[in-house]
Amino acid sequence: MPGKMEPLPGTTDIWSPETAAWVDIETTARAVFGRYAYGELRTPIFERTDLFVRGLGDQTEVVQKEMYSFVDRGGRNLTLRPEGTAGVMRAIANQGLAEGTEKRVFYLGPMFRGERPAAGRKRQFHQIGVEAVGRVSPAMDAESIAMLIDFLAEIGVGKTRLLINSKGAAADRQAVDAALKAYFARHIDHMCEDCRRRLDGNVWRILDCKAEPCQAPVAAAPAIVDLLGPASQAYFESVLSLLDKLEVPYERAPRLVRGLDYYEHTVFEVLCDGEHLGAQNAIAGGGRYSICLPGVKQPVVGVGFAAGVERLLLAKGLVDLPPASQSEVDVYVAALGEALVPGGMQIARQLRQAGLRVMAETEGRSLKAQLRTADRVAANLVAILGDQENDRGVILCRSMDSSQQVELPQAGLLDFVRTKLNNQPIASAARTA
Ligand code: HAM
Repeated sequence: MPGKMEPLPGTTDIWSPETAAWVDIETTARAVFGRYAYGELRTPIFERTDLFVRGLGDQTEVVQKEMYSFVDRGGRNLTLRPEGTAGVMRAIANQGLAEGTEKRVFYLGPMFRGERPAAGRKRQFHQIGVEAVGRVSPAMDAESIAMLIDFLAEIGVGKTRLLINSKGAAADRQAVDAALKAYFARHIDHMCEDCRRRLDGNVWRILDCKAEPCQAPVAAAPAIVDLLGPASQAYFESVLSLLDKLEVPYERAPRLVRGLDYYEHTVFEVLCDGEHLGAQNAIAGGGRYSICLPGVKQPVVGVGFAAGVERLLLAKGLVDLPPASQSEVDVYVAALGEALVPGGMQIARQLRQAGLRVMAETEGRSLKAQLRTADRVAANLVAILGDQENDRGVILCRSMDSSQQVELPQAGLLDFVRTKLNNQPIASAARTA
């Protein structure tokens, strides 16, 4: 039983140095997506519940079982966003998108789903996602997938497999529904409770069922692409041939439908066989969609994907990192006595303005106590300001490694520190070069 101050199940505190790995991934995302002309969009973390019910589909697992929904003090039904696409569509529709134009956005941030927590499965997790909205073309689908593969390669996630399928256009839906119903009706007596409900509610969802008794009938179900009309089949073949052209390897996954109902045409998922991922090996997923928003007449169309940041880190093996081994502080400015604290703060500020990472004494404790602090924060150097030194306009500079100490003019401290740090293989030395 977790203690009172532990984070809730399925949520975590993310500490340094893991936070640095998060920043690296986010920085790479910005760089890669920027090269494809995507701009960042930040949407609210909570939205009206009906945006998700209508947008994702009321038969989806997410809507039926996983949303964090609540009624606010104004009596509004609200939900913590379980994914990013619906909110992005709302924002774009709200701003208005002229006919035939395209909008490309990326987003990153927390999402919330009340799933059973496991390695790689959180209740608050983080997605990095993209959406290219406004037009329908196989080239957009192929480009989005190529961008995801570029991103994964650039952050250094190896051993991935891209699975791809098509759900066809809305016009194909009835025929596929009928074929799937006819097929599953023959097996339904041996399938799970949920699938019995799905047979009449939304038969496509059966293909996404993870329950044991449903695995064999799902594996032998007809391939969706074979049930599609010629236009949808041609669309899918066109996406695949573009991926061939772009040298993006893929595997056809004939029964992949993905867990959200807004998908049409192309759907894809990237799996990773990293040792830390276990069953949660889908590191990213996406596809082309058509989303009906409450109060908006025309469905919004687009293509995109989202990757789970926690799973990307697991895939890279960046979990349970030891505490920071590298120095986080370049200089600790020690002030010997309370009266010298303001002078020490002034020196520290000048060093910081030159780009150094600096901590300064705030109480004027004993030198021993201050050196202990400098040691604890792994400072490289300690600048020591005493009364006598201050009167003469000098300062002592001590190396924490060698305990060697030199006296130098206060005006020469910055240059001295830079030279010292440049001779050491630490990150800050490179920054100050
Ligand atoms: P999704 O497949 O539901 O798609 O989620 C995308 C990714 O988010 C998953 O592949 C996984 O890496 C991560 N993820 C999902 N749930 C969890 C969880 N409980 N804990 C940790 N990671 C998780 C979407 O959300 C769509 N909006 C993607 C999209 C964008 N499609 C088109 N555009």
